[in-house]
Amino acid sequence: MIFYLCDMEKILIFDFGSQYTQLIARRVRELNVYCEIHPFHKIPMIDETVKGIILSGSPFSVRDENSPKPDLTLFRKKLPLLGICYGAQYLAQSNGGEVLPSKIREYGRANLTYVESSHPLMKNIPLKSQVWMSHGDTIKKLPENTKIIASTKDVEIAGYEFVGEKTYAIQFHPEVYHSTDGLQILKNFIVDTCNCKQNWTPNSFVESTVENLKAQLGNDKVVLGLSGGVDSTVAAVLLNKAIGTNLYCIFVDNGLLRKNEFENVLEQYKHLGLNVKGVNAKDKFYNSLDGLSDPEQKRKAIGKTFIEVFDEESNRISDVKWLAQGTIYPDVIESVSATGGPSSTIKSHHNVGGLPDYMKLKIVEPLRLLFKDEVRRVGKTLGLNDNLLGRHPFPGPGLAIRILGDITSEKVQILQEVDYIFIEGLKKSNLYDKVWQAGAILLPIQSVGVMGDERTYERVVALRAVESTDGMTADWCHLPYEFLAKISNEIINKVKGVNRVVYDISSKPPATIEWE
Ligand code: XMP
Repeated sequence: MIFYLCDMEKILIFDFGSQYTQLIARRVRELNVYCEIHPFHKIPMIDETVKGIILSGSPFSVRDENSPKPDLTLFRKKLPLLGICYGAQYLAQSNGGEVLPSKIREYGRANLTYVESSHPLMKNIPLKSQVWMSHGDTIKKLPENTKIIASTKDVEIAGYEFVGEKTYAIQFHPEVYHSTDGLQILKNFIVDTCNCKQNWTPNSFVESTVENLKAQLGNDKVVLGLSGGVDSTVAAVLLNKAIGTNLYCIFVDNGLLRKNEFENVLEQYKHLGLNVKGVNAKDKFYNSLDGLSDPEQKRKAIGKTFIEVFDEESNRISDVKWLAQGTIYPDVIESVSATGGPSSTIKSHHNVGGLPDYMKLKIVEPLRLLFKDEVRRVGKTLGLNDNLLGRHPFPGPGLAIRILGDITSEKVQILQEVDYIFIEGLKKSNLYDKVWQAGAILLPIQSVGVMGDERTYERVVALRAVESTDGMTADWCHLPYEFLAKISNEIINKVKGVNRVVYDISSKPPATIEWE
């Protein structure tokens, strides 16, 4: 694993499996301080770049036999420590305090009824400040040599400190937006107590990453598969800054992109000064999909064909040594299993669908330290336009998973026209940026209609628009009726072969965003 900024000052977050752990990291980064998440049972070597440690919450109870119990004596009193929720309970219980089940599970908003405003962690935190609680256990008795620094009506020990050391603990979640002064609490800890310099900025990232890439890659050639998405584009622009024409970008037209997408995006890439080759492989993809209607089989065929095309193209570049990928931080964080004790699963991610071993390329991933919102900020610093940075996510298999059943070039063309009207309509009505992802689906049914005096028997399309933050859950967008009416009318009038439009009002879960 390569950490380009291992010499960057940082906060470490020890993860006990909380659903909010990534949110803690994003809040710390918002304060322009670099941080890393590590599973509690795989704590790395601590060097002088580590300025403080945060202990996360957890789905476990400290009273469970198999709950996380790392040895904190290595860090206590040497580094500032902040325990959140489970972290606070673990600090209490492992030092002679007592943690018991709460009479009721405390979940939701609460207000601070006591704040020790002179305490460093509580600087600028007003009385009655709203905090977010999410816990089934509560600290009943504190260890010796501790002092309460915050309380709520129901939770007397909402915050405490170990007197004479920089070890603090809070029962509520400062990382959650509902904790209205949560960011201030994190700032008090990270900036004032840990003395972090707040120099993790998009500019500093670009500068140091470009230097590191230069040192790492020297005169080697690198190949990168562009997808039209934000991550691969930002990765390419960074690499281009570091190694210029030694970066060979490949952008494949699989015949399943949006209308005019291939030409438009290729043009934008060229404007960015990238050494990019557009490869028209439509026929190859259509041939590989011939006769397939099962979604997983379609995905596999597309993945396999992509590898063949990419392999063929990279073989044309003599002596290429590296494969660049747009992998980002959430793809590489080892997640702590909430059900299986200290077991962990590593999520793997391959922008190019996983390349065969025989390609023998070393992997370079310039964005593996960044969250998605940071990739966008870096992209902005690199001069990418909002049009490119604000694009909706688009699945790798493209329109193939939005044409239910088998694929033909005629169906692709119909769907491209429908999708184009929908997406352009969203843009014209200033709705595009309010929607996380939108697209159209071609259904495998026909329905009766009437046009003029004629009965028609034509295709049905569905429109889908969702709000989401990461695609894991999603709500259907309540687009204005007038907008939907206008788009439906335009589609039926302009796209030959379609006589009915429906709007998908399912949320995820239980539905998924894509229909296949
Ligand atoms: P679902 O349909 O699982 O989609 O709710 C969640 C997000 O993932 C995208 N998606 C894919 N992206 N290859 C991709 O690169 C795929 O096979 C794939 N399937 C779904 C989807 O567009 C949404 O953003």
